[in-house]
Amino acid sequence: MPWGPSLAPAPPSCQKPPVDADNETSSKPSEAHSRLARGWLFGLIFTLFVILFGAVVRITGSGAGCGQHWPSCHGELAHLPQKIETAIELTHRVTSGLSMVLVFGLTAATFRVVSAGYPARRASLAASGFMIVEALVGAALVLLELVGENDSKARAVVMAIHLVNTMALVAALVVCLWLVRRPQLRSLDWKFAGLSGWAYGGAATLAVVSAAGAVTALGDTLYPVVGTTLDAARPEGDVHFLDLLRGVHPVLAVIGSVILVWGAGRLTDAESQRADREAPIGPRTRAARLIVALVVFQIFLGLVNIGLSAPGWMQITHLAFANFVWIAWIWGWLQVASGVGDWVKE
Ligand code: HEM
Repeated sequence: MPWGPSLAPAPPSCQKPPVDADNETSSKPSEAHSRLARGWLFGLIFTLFVILFGAVVRITGSGAGCGQHWPSCHGELAHLPQKIETAIELTHRVTSGLSMVLVFGLTAATFRVVSAGYPARRASLAASGFMIVEALVGAALVLLELVGENDSKARAVVMAIHLVNTMALVAALVVCLWLVRRPQLRSLDWKFAGLSGWAYGGAATLAVVSAAGAVTALGDTLYPVVGTTLDAARPEGDVHFLDLLRGVHPVLAVIGSVILVWGAGRLTDAESQRADREAPIGPRTRAARLIVALVVFQIFLGLVNIGLSAPGWMQITHLAFANFVWIAWIWGWLQVASGVGDWVKE
């Protein structure tokens, strides 16, 4: 199926009561909702910063910067860092702590502003829940010493779990932002108008590709192409599992990208027969185009990453764009779940 507009009739499941795509905010958010939306937007941006800074911790090998102590640093609650690794790890702890307080505060504010029964309340609880899991996984990394030069399978597994939970947290923050900006929405269609296979399938694809990416990133950190002290300590001819798994992510990413581009095409199908064909492109088509552009750019970044042997700044850029692809995917499918840009029966 081509990803561009098609004239084939939409499946019956898409023929819901029409919703005017361009008039989705007809019931204007109140001042309190607008302020709350600004809060969730800030929460999302700040959390993205914390996530990217987490990659700095890994790349600089600073995960053990506070010793095997959590939540204290070297056993002290107010520790004055002596080493750069300690300063980096401490900054990550403080900023991630602030993002947690921020999300808890926003959840409380959502319960004050949004009436019972509206989905924003549940979404905000989910965001707080994923934030708690995020802190527990971070604590597990430190307390189980899965940091620094630890190259165990346990570390690879926990890093992959960490990244997938980060994605769940970002998704929850995007859903919160979406919902508080549309106070009239009483529910979301979690069956995605019969296209749930594409919505969830694409999300799962991104999660698997990104989890594999986290393992590749760990391999590139511990065993960069140029070689490290760990390399020197290895017996001759011994191939580490991180070396073996390094190539899995690029292969999965290429297969996953095809699925994502295909899935983006399904987003446009449901609005391809809008009543007003002269109207500018609808919101789903815009989202689909954004997804395709970001996926293509991410593949380009991945190739550059390999070409340059994954320097730190490139790893952070690649991680940032992985998040942008993810956010665009969630944003695109939220349009379907909210009936924005629905297929209009003529
Ligand atoms: C939709 C496509 C892609 C997504 C969503 C994606 C996502 C990711 C993620 C989340 C990481 C882990 C980053 C970190 O924890 O720091 C990663 C790492 C990596 N990816 Fe991708 N990736 C994609 C495509 C590709 C492609 C096509 C290639 C190569 C041809 C590639 C090469 C790499 C490499 C070498 C790393 C390890 C170094 C680093 O962390 O940047 N990626 N990717």
